[in-house]
Amino acid sequence: MAGLFGKKSIPVVGIDISSTSVKLIEMSKAGKTFKVDSYAVEPLPANSVVDKRIEDVEAVGQSLERAVKKSGTKLKTAAVAVAGSSVITRVISMPANLTDPEMADQILIEADQYIPYDMEEVSYDFSTIGPTEGNPDQVDVLLAASQRDNVDQRSEVCEYAGLTAKVVDIEAYAIEHAFELMRHQVADNGIDKVVAIVDIGATTMTITVLHDGNIIYTRDQTFGGKQLTEEIMRRYGLSYEEAGQKKRQGGLPDNYHTEVLDPFKDSIVQEVNRSLQFFFANSTFNAIDSIIMAGGTCTIPGVINIVEQQVGTHAVLAEPSAHLKMSGKVRPERLHGDAGALLVSFGLALRSFD
Ligand SMILES: Nc1ncnc2c1ncn2[C@@H]1O[C@H](COP(=O)(O)OP(=O)(O)OP(=O)(O)O)[C@@H](O)[C@H]1O
Ligand SMILES: [Mg+2]
Repeated sequence: MAGLFGKKSIPVVGIDISSTSVKLIEMSKAGKTFKVDSYAVEPLPANSVVDKRIEDVEAVGQSLERAVKKSGTKLKTAAVAVAGSSVITRVISMPANLTDPEMADQILIEADQYIPYDMEEVSYDFSTIGPTEGNPDQVDVLLAASQRDNVDQRSEVCEYAGLTAKVVDIEAYAIEHAFELMRHQVADNGIDKVVAIVDIGATTMTITVLHDGNIIYTRDQTFGGKQLTEEIMRRYGLSYEEAGQKKRQGGLPDNYHTEVLDPFKDSIVQEVNRSLQFFFANSTFNAIDSIIMAGGTCTIPGVINIVEQQVGTHAVLAEPSAHLKMSGKVRPERLHGDAGALLVSFGLALRSFD
């Protein structure tokens, strides 16, 4: 069983199992340049993943199988992610002189102090952050634990598609990794800067704040494009599928923009503002330098502008694929179009180069 972080540096295909689709990316490195070797996005049947929980392992496994085939990847090892909301993380202080196995034993003995679950039902891992402030004999260790079925289900889905999950990451850490592909989008390549990455998908909005490229805060909340789709259904008497399609491709009545879409954009601004207030209340920072907007919902025309104006902070749409090389089997326009919704997959694929 892979640990929550997984430490070995082996080539992995990054797989984001989100609420609407399975998103797969494989990357390689040529010198300093990253190359996308294969990629695919495959839709999921409705309700096969609900609130980041896999409700139907077989259906999700079949979608992943199709994604693997379409992408043409030859890799058999995968990196997957679990949601931050399903993970408990604690920073604990440990004696600095312990080896990793000794530390693992020690943590298991003391775990019930940190983790409110039975350790038998938990997958956990840890990584050393650095010396404990004011105590040179101790080190700070980040302990992360997720309920085992959460991790096991993702492993099962991979197995169904002929893959082995070697790395299980946390979504927010994958997003932190993906920032390496977006440094060109912010001032000074993000050095010493505070950058908020706001990913708004179908059901979840994740804010991840980085300082100097390192994660300092993350929070998930229930908000996303599904709310807009449901409002379109109600307003115009459409099925969920029709509403979702017209939302993306157009063909809704004239009053859609003023009466449905504009209020939804206002609620995006509100949610972004609220998330930033939560961050400020929980940190010593009181300003951010840039917002990178990601996730399918942020591709709605005008969202970036309204956030930039109303929040009053430099804002851009995530472009992680902008400077990447691509293999012949990847279609550049398609990848660039999807890239903003692929941060988790990109971050997971980058685990090949740890
Ligand atoms: N052009 C578009 N216009 C409006 N909405 C769009 C567009 N493209 C995608 N979306 C919406 O974006 C959402 C999908 O985005 P994304 O792929 O980031 O979500 P997800 O990762 O599957 O969801 P979650 O992270 O919440 O599980 C859907 O609600 C979809 O309708
Ligand atoms: Mg997502």
